[in-house]
Amino acid sequence: MKRRWFQGFVAGVTVVMAGLGLARGESIKIGHYGSLTGSEATFGISTSNGVKLAINEVNAAGGVNGKQIELVEYDTKGDPKEAGAVVTRLVTRDKVVAVIGEVASTLSLAGAPICQANQVPMISPSSTNPRVTLVGDYIFRVCFIDPFQGFVCAKFAREMRGAKTAAILYDQASAYSVGLAEQFEKNFVAMGGVVSAKLSYNAGDQDFNARLTAIRASNPDIIFLPGYYTDVANVAIQARKLGITVPFLGGDGWDSSKLTEIGGAAIEGSFYSNHAAPDDPSLAGFVQKYEDEYGAKPDALGALGYDAAMLLFDAMRRAKSLAGADLRQAIDDTKDFVGVTGVINFNETRDAVKPAVILEIKDGKAVYAAKIEP
Ligand code: PHE
Repeated sequence: MKRRWFQGFVAGVTVVMAGLGLARGESIKIGHYGSLTGSEATFGISTSNGVKLAINEVNAAGGVNGKQIELVEYDTKGDPKEAGAVVTRLVTRDKVVAVIGEVASTLSLAGAPICQANQVPMISPSSTNPRVTLVGDYIFRVCFIDPFQGFVCAKFAREMRGAKTAAILYDQASAYSVGLAEQFEKNFVAMGGVVSAKLSYNAGDQDFNARLTAIRASNPDIIFLPGYYTDVANVAIQARKLGITVPFLGGDGWDSSKLTEIGGAAIEGSFYSNHAAPDDPSLAGFVQKYEDEYGAKPDALGALGYDAAMLLFDAMRRAKSLAGADLRQAIDDTKDFVGVTGVINFNETRDAVKPAVILEIKDGKAVYAAKIEP
């Protein structure tokens, strides 16, 4: 008897939900593509956590225009071919109204042309290579770009650390690493610095001894290492074994709890530029929410994923419809969107213009060291 009542109750609820437009099929589908596995796994996982936090918050408050947000998410495994395949699936089979991703610029460059060709807006939370949004007018990002990040790193090295010489070691297959190395060099030299050595590697390389020996011989004041955290940690470990004691300096690609987990003492006293500092008091509310949900402190990617999703929902509320052209226009019309990583406005090339922070690795943690405005 009890059970029959229960079934009736459930059926009643289903009808009510359908009446309110909350049933499956009445929801709004958005996509996320990211590296959930592989040597950049924390990039995708942190972003996914941030996106889901935003979705849960918005859904609990009634959704967007009365509809629940539904997430379709795929793993790129850090591979450009895989990124292209899953973005094609998102736009052609799942028919999402918008796509969030990727983190790595090389992977965003694989996904963006597919979104552009299908007129599905894409928002990269964190790809910083300028070419990403130049793919077309459906491609946006909620972060700064590498000409600025390269300037920030050069200024920090040259003016705040007083470095006269810098060696550069970059990943030659990564659009991000190649571009950031170039921008750092250009700015460092313009500020009167000298590049003592410039060498490259391929992501996943295990033996950096020959390259580090050449760098040691050039006797730099600092070593610029614009790579992703796994390679960066391996390079640092091998450098310390060779007796190299100068600090490393990198970009946002260092941002992972794995950096200090793998790098340990070798990465202590080094620096990197980033989109946000977890110990910045203005992030406290977000950090608390994230910690309550996931039991760990967020990195910048969690915050940027959250901002990308919230900005998208804000645009959906203002859009004439969720058709690609209307939603694209509403995203483009965004004004002074208050994100957890700062106030977001897009320039003519649909990039956010925001300050950068420099973090220092101290006692296994990345702590705020400086802020540099655009
Ligand atoms: N900016 C990097 C890229 O374009 C990705 C990244 C952003 C990694 C933020 C970590 C933190 O490839």
